[in-house]
Amino acid sequence: MAKTINVGTLISGGGTNLQAIIDACTAGRIDARILFTGSDTPGVKGLERAQKAGIDTFVVDYAKIIRSCKKGIDPGDLPSDFNLQEILGKQQLMAGNMEKDRIDFFLKSRAIAEKLLLDHILSFQIDLLVLAGFMRVLTPYFIDRMNTIPGQYRIMNIHPALLPSFPGTDGYGDTFRYGCKVGGCTVHFIDYGEDTGPIIGQRSFEIAEGDTLEDVKRKGLEQEWELYPACIQKFADLG
Ligand code: GRF
Repeated sequence: MAKTINVGTLISGGGTNLQAIIDACTAGRIDARILFTGSDTPGVKGLERAQKAGIDTFVVDYAKIIRSCKKGIDPGDLPSDFNLQEILGKQQLMAGNMEKDRIDFFLKSRAIAEKLLLDHILSFQIDLLVLAGFMRVLTPYFIDRMNTIPGQYRIMNIHPALLPSFPGTDGYGDTFRYGCKVGGCTVHFIDYGEDTGPIIGQRSFEIAEGDTLEDVKRKGLEQEWELYPACIQKFADLG
């Protein structure tokens, strides 16, 4: 049996993956315990699920932060250790031909939100951060403050498609509209790109003639609920 790892979770919505992980921990099916659940959106069902399981919760309201940044970002609003040039040099989220002001705004506004996330997260001692339906990309500002040991990834994500196909926000929708006969989900580590980090595990399912997008999402989620706890266990087994 592996040592029990301490896990933090981030969500944005319903939290059915979070629930699957909570259930796996509670039943002792995986060697992990969840220390907190953070959300980028207040009032979501996933927060309720966490609270019901006795897990600490917090919210960093991204939409509110971004709205306020749109009124203007004062240099004093940025985290004191924020270095735009360094982050520009590392980020692989936006293409170089994108308008410079837009890239700068994105990286600055996200760093303001990410600093608040880190203030919560780093008050816990976690081995692994699990993104369970967290619908925000994370910039190098955040990633570097989580992945402090070179070469060791500490942030896991689940993506609703068989990467490297269909990265982005609507994996099942893109799979369905393309006319794929097989769909799937992927658990991977987070790196500086969008959905590009090393793959930890994948599950696939058949898309039958006549399946609707809803069928694809249902089949996909059923796979996700098994795959995510299994990948967390893989991480725990590494010791
Ligand atoms: C899942 O399909 C996951 O792959 C994607 O967002 C969805 C979250 O669902 N990243 P839930 O909140 O876990 O129910």
